[in-house]
Amino acid sequence: MSDFNNKVVVVTGGSEGIGKALVELFLSKGAKVATCGRNYDKLYLLQSTHAGEPLMIHTADVSKELDCKNFIAAVIDTFGTIDILINNAGISMRALFNDVELDTLRRVMDVNFWGTVNSTKFALPYIIRNKGSVVAISSIAGYRGLPGRSGYSASKFAVNGWMEALRTELLNTGVNVMWACPGFTASNIRNVALDKNGNAQGESPLEEKKLMPAEECAGYIIKAIEKRKRTLVLTANGKQTVFLNRFFPSLADKLVKRFFYKNGELVK
Ligand SMILES: NC(=O)c1ccc[n+]([C@@H]2O[C@H](COP(=O)([O-])OP(=O)(O)OC[C@H]3O[C@@H](n4cnc5c(N)ncnc54)[C@H](OP(=O)(O)O)[C@@H]3O)[C@@H](O)[C@H]2O)c1
Repeated sequence: MSDFNNKVVVVTGGSEGIGKALVELFLSKGAKVATCGRNYDKLYLLQSTHAGEPLMIHTADVSKELDCKNFIAAVIDTFGTIDILINNAGISMRALFNDVELDTLRRVMDVNFWGTVNSTKFALPYIIRNKGSVVAISSIAGYRGLPGRSGYSASKFAVNGWMEALRTELLNTGVNVMWACPGFTASNIRNVALDKNGNAQGESPLEEKKLMPAEECAGYIIKAIEKRKRTLVLTANGKQTVFLNRFFPSLADKLVKRFFYKNGELVK
């Protein structure tokens, strides 16, 4: 029997990509799962494909404190407690800082950083009682600032620092706090990433099919939760970037710039 059998797992942003893969993997391991997103139709579709399984869906925008409060209250009404919270809901952006509307950066920060803080605030008392886990799906961009993604990088650095502080506050309580940093993973995130004016880009600059599948990424995350790890950094490219940035930051500047620019222009 899996470690997750009958555990109550909350995954924010579970209707697409990594979140959806996490929801489905936890269900297959016997967990009771609750998830949220802004678009009800996508959540409903997910629930329909898992009819008869213990999956609760709720429409909530994690950047709104009241939505998170209501979501967590609905989880408690349905399942009675929470063992694991995975702060996965996130958005990205692609635009140079010199061109970008500041509101675009604020929106990214509101979802990625404040969404993590809001959801954790209401779920934490239950997780402490159960000696469970708080997890954030951060990014390599939380270790290394990426050009054209300044708001995204800032939000993920903020998540990592906040999670580290929370981890330290919760030492010896039996709660595990972990931030997982996927590398490039196939998903919808680059299609819906905001442009300089805050509109969806509508395309990905990467060949999504060549990236790590979301299911594989979710598998690594679940294993790390099981082992109660502190951090998880994924993909060879991601590990290399974190290592280079730590020990050779000036070289990392040059290599990262070369990766994200073609013919002097930011690849959007
Ligand atoms: N894919 C990658 O290459 C990659 C790499 C590193 C880190 N990550 C991180 O992994 C996490 C998941 O990303 P993904 O690639 O799976 O993205 P995705 O395919 O775009 O899925 C994002 C999910 O989050 C939900 N969501 C977005 N904004 C939300 C909000 N304000 N409130 C509630 N739910 C919201 C979306 O549903 P709605 O649109 O219906 O709200 C969707 O279910 C993010 O935190 C991302 O930063 C991804």
